[in-house]
Amino acid sequence: MNGWLGALEDARVSVNDRGYNFGDGVYEVVRAYNGVMFALEEHLERLALSAAAVEIDLPWEPARLKNITKDTLGKSGIKEALVYIQVTRGTAPRNHVSDEEMRPNLLVTVRNMPHIPPSLYTEGVKAITMPEFRWQIRNVKSISLQASVLAKRRAERAGAAEAIFVLPDGTVTEGASSNIFIVKDGVLMTHPADNRILAGVIRHFVLKVAGTLDVKSVVEPFNILDLVKAEEVFITGTVAEVVPVVNVDGKIIGGGRPGPLTARIHKGFVSLIK
Ligand code: PDD
Repeated sequence: MNGWLGALEDARVSVNDRGYNFGDGVYEVVRAYNGVMFALEEHLERLALSAAAVEIDLPWEPARLKNITKDTLGKSGIKEALVYIQVTRGTAPRNHVSDEEMRPNLLVTVRNMPHIPPSLYTEGVKAITMPEFRWQIRNVKSISLQASVLAKRRAERAGAAEAIFVLPDGTVTEGASSNIFIVKDGVLMTHPADNRILAGVIRHFVLKVAGTLDVKSVVEPFNILDLVKAEEVFITGTVAEVVPVVNVDGKIIGGGRPGPLTARIHKGFVSLIK
Protein backbone atom coordinates (compact mmCIF):
# COMPACT_ATOMS: atom_id res chain seq x y z
CA MET A 1 0.00 0.00 0.00
CA ASN A 2 1.61 3.25 -1.21
CA GLY A 3 5.00 1.54 -0.98
CA TRP A 4 4.35 -0.19 2.35
CA LEU A 5 4.52 -3.98 2.28
CA GLY A 6 3.18 -6.28 4.95
CA ALA A 7 0.43 -8.62 6.05
CA LEU A 8 -3.00 -7.72 4.71
CA GLU A 9 -4.47 -7.38 8.21
CA ASP A 10 -1.79 -4.85 9.16
CA ALA A 11 -2.53 -2.52 6.24
CA ARG A 12 -4.16 0.77 7.27
CA VAL A 13 -6.15 3.28 5.29
CA SER A 14 -7.32 6.74 6.36
CA VAL A 15 -11.02 7.23 7.02
CA ASN A 16 -10.61 10.19 4.66
CA ASP A 17 -9.62 7.92 1.79
CA ARG A 18 -11.87 8.79 -1.16
CA GLY A 19 -12.52 5.11 -1.72
CA TYR A 20 -13.88 4.76 1.80
CA ASN A 21 -16.01 7.93 1.66
CA PHE A 22 -17.14 8.02 -1.97
CA GLY A 23 -16.30 4.71 -3.64
CA ASP A 24 -14.12 7.07 -5.63
CA GLY A 25 -11.62 4.67 -7.10
CA VAL A 26 -10.95 2.06 -9.78
CA TYR A 27 -9.57 -1.46 -9.61
CA GLU A 28 -8.47 -4.63 -11.35
CA VAL A 29 -8.34 -8.30 -10.38
CA VAL A 30 -5.59 -10.33 -12.03
CA ARG A 31 -5.12 -14.07 -11.89
CA ALA A 32 -1.67 -15.54 -11.27
CA TYR A 33 -0.91 -19.07 -12.42
CA ASN A 34 2.19 -20.65 -10.96
CA GLY A 35 3.52 -17.25 -9.90
CA VAL A 36 2.91 -15.56 -13.27
CA MET A 37 0.11 -13.09 -13.83
CA PHE A 38 -2.10 -13.65 -16.85
CA ALA A 39 -2.73 -10.60 -19.07
CA LEU A 40 -1.28 -8.12 -16.59
CA GLU A 41 -0.69 -5.60 -19.36
CA GLU A 42 -4.28 -5.78 -20.53
CA HIS A 43 -5.47 -5.32 -16.94
CA LEU A 44 -3.21 -2.32 -16.41
CA GLU A 45 -4.37 -0.80 -19.69
CA ARG A 46 -7.97 -1.10 -18.55
CA LEU A 47 -7.04 0.36 -15.16
CA ALA A 48 -5.57 3.39 -16.94
CA LEU A 49 -8.73 3.74 -19.07
CA SER A 50 -10.97 3.48 -15.99
CA ALA A 51 -8.86 6.05 -14.14
CA ALA A 52 -8.95 8.44 -17.09
CA ALA A 53 -12.73 8.02 -17.40
CA VAL A 54 -13.23 9.15 -13.80
CA GLU A 55 -10.53 11.82 -14.04
CA ILE A 56 -7.99 10.23 -11.72
CA ASP A 57 -4.48 11.07 -12.87
CA LEU A 58 -2.31 8.01 -12.31
CA PRO A 59 1.05 9.27 -11.03
CA TRP A 60 2.78 6.00 -12.00
CA GLU A 61 4.12 5.06 -15.43
CA PRO A 62 2.62 1.75 -16.70
CA ALA A 63 6.03 0.08 -16.32
CA ARG A 64 6.21 1.21 -12.69
CA LEU A 65 2.75 -0.16 -11.91
CA LYS A 66 3.72 -3.40 -13.57
CA ASN A 67 6.84 -3.65 -11.41
CA ILE A 68 5.01 -2.83 -8.20
CA THR A 69 2.39 -5.48 -8.97
CA LYS A 70 4.95 -8.12 -9.92
CA ASP A 71 7.07 -7.30 -6.90
CA THR A 72 4.10 -7.60 -4.54
CA LEU A 73 3.14 -10.98 -6.00
CA GLY A 74 6.74 -12.18 -5.85
CA LYS A 75 7.20 -11.17 -2.21
CA SER A 76 3.91 -12.79 -1.19
CA GLY A 77 5.32 -16.17 -2.20
CA ILE A 78 1.84 -17.16 -3.37
CA LYS A 79 1.84 -19.00 -6.68
CA GLU A 80 -1.85 -19.54 -7.39
CA ALA A 81 -3.15 -16.10 -6.61
CA LEU A 82 -5.68 -13.37 -7.14
CA VAL A 83 -3.91 -10.05 -7.36
CA TYR A 84 -6.09 -7.04 -6.58
CA ILE A 85 -5.02 -3.57 -7.69
CA GLN A 86 -6.94 -0.57 -6.40
CA VAL A 87 -6.41 3.13 -6.96
CA THR A 88 -8.50 5.72 -5.13
CA ARG A 89 -8.48 9.44 -5.85
CA GLY A 90 -6.54 10.06 -2.65
CA THR A 91 -6.99 11.23 0.92
CA ALA A 92 -8.69 14.51 1.86
CA PRO A 93 -11.42 15.68 4.26
CA ARG A 94 -14.82 14.63 2.88
CA ASN A 95 -16.00 16.97 0.15
CA HIS A 96 -17.36 15.90 -3.24
CA VAL A 97 -14.91 18.24 -4.94
CA SER A 98 -11.80 18.77 -2.89
CA ASP A 99 -9.63 21.88 -3.01
CA GLU A 100 -6.67 19.86 -1.94
CA GLU A 101 -4.16 18.39 -4.33
CA MET A 102 -4.42 14.67 -3.80
CA ARG A 103 -2.04 11.90 -4.63
CA PRO A 104 -3.94 8.73 -5.53
CA ASN A 105 -3.65 5.84 -3.09
CA LEU A 106 -2.42 2.56 -4.52
CA LEU A 107 -3.23 -0.81 -2.98
CA VAL A 108 -2.04 -4.15 -4.31
CA THR A 109 -3.11 -7.28 -2.46
CA VAL A 110 -2.32 -10.91 -3.15
CA ARG A 111 -4.61 -13.68 -2.00
CA ASN A 112 -4.64 -17.40 -2.45
CA MET A 113 -6.80 -18.42 -5.34
CA PRO A 114 -10.09 -19.72 -3.85
CA HIS A 115 -10.94 -23.35 -4.47
CA ILE A 116 -13.20 -23.81 -7.47
CA PRO A 117 -15.18 -27.07 -7.23
CA PRO A 118 -14.92 -29.21 -10.37
CA SER A 119 -18.74 -29.56 -10.34
CA LEU A 120 -18.90 -25.94 -11.52
CA TYR A 121 -17.75 -27.15 -14.92
CA THR A 122 -19.31 -30.59 -14.98
CA GLU A 123 -22.75 -29.54 -13.67
CA GLY A 124 -22.97 -25.89 -14.67
CA VAL A 125 -24.78 -23.23 -12.62
CA LYS A 126 -28.18 -21.50 -12.35
CA ALA A 127 -28.73 -17.81 -12.97
CA ILE A 128 -31.65 -15.38 -12.57
CA THR A 129 -32.49 -12.25 -14.51
CA MET A 130 -33.39 -8.87 -13.07
CA PRO A 131 -33.94 -5.39 -14.40
CA GLU A 132 -30.64 -3.54 -14.84
CA PHE A 133 -30.67 -1.33 -11.75
CA ARG A 134 -27.05 -0.32 -11.33
CA TRP A 135 -26.80 3.41 -10.53
CA GLN A 136 -30.58 3.44 -10.21
CA ILE A 137 -31.07 3.18 -6.48
CA ARG A 138 -30.69 6.87 -5.94
CA ASN A 139 -33.09 6.79 -2.99
CA VAL A 140 -30.28 5.08 -1.05
CA LYS A 141 -27.86 7.49 0.59
CA SER A 142 -25.08 5.28 -0.60
CA ILE A 143 -21.38 5.95 -0.28
CA SER A 144 -21.04 4.81 -3.93
CA LEU A 145 -20.75 8.40 -5.09
CA GLN A 146 -18.30 8.23 -7.96
CA ALA A 147 -20.77 9.49 -10.58
CA SER A 148 -21.78 12.36 -8.28
CA VAL A 149 -18.14 13.22 -7.74
CA LEU A 150 -17.60 13.35 -11.51
CA ALA A 151 -20.67 15.52 -11.97
CA LYS A 152 -19.43 17.93 -9.30
CA ARG A 153 -15.99 18.12 -10.89
CA ARG A 154 -17.55 18.91 -14.28
CA ALA A 155 -19.81 21.53 -12.72
CA GLU A 156 -16.86 23.14 -11.00
CA ARG A 157 -14.92 23.26 -14.26
CA ALA A 158 -17.91 25.02 -15.84
CA GLY A 159 -17.86 27.58 -13.02
CA ALA A 160 -21.06 26.14 -11.53
CA ALA A 161 -21.81 25.23 -7.93
CA GLU A 162 -24.03 22.28 -8.70
CA ALA A 163 -24.76 19.73 -11.42
CA ILE A 164 -28.45 19.10 -12.00
CA PHE A 165 -29.34 15.67 -13.34
CA VAL A 166 -31.73 15.32 -16.28
CA LEU A 167 -33.13 11.96 -17.43
CA PRO A 168 -33.15 11.03 -21.14
CA ASP A 169 -36.81 12.09 -21.39
CA GLY A 170 -35.95 15.55 -20.07
CA THR A 171 -37.16 15.01 -16.50
CA VAL A 172 -35.15 16.92 -13.92
CA THR A 173 -34.42 14.80 -10.87
CA GLU A 174 -32.02 16.40 -8.39
CA GLY A 175 -28.58 17.88 -7.93
CA ALA A 176 -25.38 15.89 -7.49
CA SER A 177 -25.58 16.60 -3.75
CA SER A 178 -28.87 18.46 -3.36
CA ASN A 179 -32.57 18.38 -4.18
CA ILE A 180 -34.05 20.87 -6.59
CA PHE A 181 -37.22 22.98 -6.48
CA ILE A 182 -38.70 25.29 -9.10
CA VAL A 183 -41.42 27.91 -8.85
CA LYS A 184 -43.83 27.63 -11.78
CA ASP A 185 -46.89 29.90 -11.90
CA GLY A 186 -46.28 30.68 -8.25
CA VAL A 187 -46.36 27.00 -7.30
CA LEU A 188 -43.42 25.16 -5.78
CA MET A 189 -42.48 21.95 -7.60
CA THR A 190 -40.06 19.17 -6.76
CA HIS A 191 -39.57 15.60 -7.97
CA PRO A 192 -41.44 12.91 -5.99
CA ALA A 193 -39.44 10.93 -3.45
CA ASP A 194 -39.06 7.70 -5.43
CA ASN A 195 -35.99 5.70 -6.45
CA ARG A 196 -34.95 8.44 -8.85
CA ILE A 197 -33.89 10.88 -6.13
CA LEU A 198 -32.51 10.93 -2.64
CA ALA A 199 -35.34 12.04 -0.39
CA GLY A 200 -33.49 14.92 1.24
CA VAL A 201 -34.26 15.81 4.83
CA ILE A 202 -34.19 19.50 3.93
CA ARG A 203 -36.48 18.85 0.94
CA HIS A 204 -38.98 17.36 3.39
CA PHE A 205 -38.81 20.37 5.72
CA VAL A 206 -38.99 22.85 2.85
CA LEU A 207 -42.28 21.26 1.77
CA LYS A 208 -43.45 21.53 5.37
CA VAL A 209 -42.42 25.19 5.60
CA ALA A 210 -44.23 25.90 2.30
CA GLY A 211 -47.38 24.46 3.89
CA THR A 212 -47.13 26.70 6.95
CA LEU A 213 -46.52 29.75 4.72
CA ASP A 214 -49.55 28.88 2.57
CA VAL A 215 -47.33 28.44 -0.45
CA LYS A 216 -48.84 25.88 -2.81
CA SER A 217 -46.50 22.99 -3.64
CA VAL A 218 -46.81 19.97 -5.90
CA VAL A 219 -44.60 16.91 -5.73
CA GLU A 220 -44.43 16.06 -9.42
CA PRO A 221 -41.72 15.55 -12.02
CA PHE A 222 -40.90 18.60 -14.13
CA ASN A 223 -38.68 18.87 -17.17
CA ILE A 224 -35.71 20.87 -18.37
CA LEU A 225 -37.96 23.43 -20.11
CA ASP A 226 -39.87 24.02 -16.87
CA LEU A 227 -36.51 24.46 -15.19
CA VAL A 228 -35.06 27.09 -17.48
CA LYS A 229 -38.39 28.94 -17.70
CA ALA A 230 -39.05 28.82 -13.95
CA GLU A 231 -39.76 32.00 -12.01
CA GLU A 232 -37.38 30.77 -9.33
CA VAL A 233 -35.11 27.78 -8.79
CA PHE A 234 -33.44 26.66 -5.60
CA ILE A 235 -31.52 23.67 -4.32
CA THR A 236 -31.67 22.22 -0.83
CA GLY A 237 -29.34 20.24 1.38
CA THR A 238 -28.06 19.87 4.91
CA VAL A 239 -24.89 21.92 4.38
CA ALA A 240 -26.17 25.12 2.72
CA GLU A 241 -29.93 24.74 3.47
CA VAL A 242 -31.74 26.63 0.67
CA VAL A 243 -29.65 28.09 -2.15
CA PRO A 244 -31.10 30.18 -4.99
CA VAL A 245 -30.04 29.15 -8.49
CA VAL A 246 -29.96 32.12 -10.87
CA ASN A 247 -28.36 30.59 -13.94
CA VAL A 248 -28.77 27.15 -15.53
CA ASP A 249 -26.65 26.20 -18.55
CA GLY A 250 -26.04 29.91 -19.11
CA LYS A 251 -29.77 30.73 -19.10
CA ILE A 252 -30.78 33.43 -16.64
CA ILE A 253 -33.44 32.42 -14.10
CA GLY A 254 -35.73 35.03 -12.55
CA GLY A 255 -33.78 37.99 -13.88
CA GLY A 256 -30.54 36.57 -12.51
CA ARG A 257 -31.36 37.45 -8.90
CA PRO A 258 -32.53 35.23 -6.01
CA GLY A 259 -36.33 35.22 -5.96
CA PRO A 260 -38.69 36.37 -3.18
CA LEU A 261 -40.31 32.97 -2.64
CA THR A 262 -36.91 31.30 -2.23
CA ALA A 263 -36.00 33.91 0.39
CA ARG A 264 -39.31 33.39 2.22
CA ILE A 265 -38.87 29.64 2.23
CA HIS A 266 -35.29 29.92 3.48
CA LYS A 267 -36.37 32.35 6.21
CA GLY A 268 -39.20 30.02 7.22
CA PHE A 269 -36.77 27.13 7.32
CA VAL A 270 -34.33 29.03 9.52
CA SER A 271 -37.09 29.93 11.99
CA LEU A 272 -38.19 26.32 12.03
CA ILE A 273 -34.66 25.32 13.06
CA LYS A 274 -34.64 27.97 15.78
N1 PDD B 1 -25.77 15.28 0.27
N2 PDD B 1 -29.54 14.52 -3.07
C1 PDD B 1 -28.29 14.03 -3.02
C2 PDD B 1 -27.81 13.19 -4.15
C3 PDD B 1 -27.46 14.32 -1.91
O1 PDD B 1 -26.23 13.83 -1.85
C4 PDD B 1 -27.96 15.15 -0.86
C5 PDD B 1 -27.15 15.51 0.34
C6 PDD B 1 -29.27 15.65 -0.97
C7 PDD B 1 -29.91 16.50 0.10
O2 PDD B 1 -30.19 15.71 1.23
P1 PDD B 1 -30.32 16.39 2.71
O3 PDD B 1 -31.35 17.46 2.56
O4 PDD B 1 -30.78 15.26 3.57
O5 PDD B 1 -28.96 16.91 3.08
C8 PDD B 1 -30.02 15.29 -2.08
C9 PDD B 1 -24.91 15.52 1.40
C10 PDD B 1 -25.13 16.82 2.07
C11 PDD B 1 -23.48 15.21 1.02
O6 PDD B 1 -23.29 14.22 0.32
O7 PDD B 1 -22.54 15.91 1.44
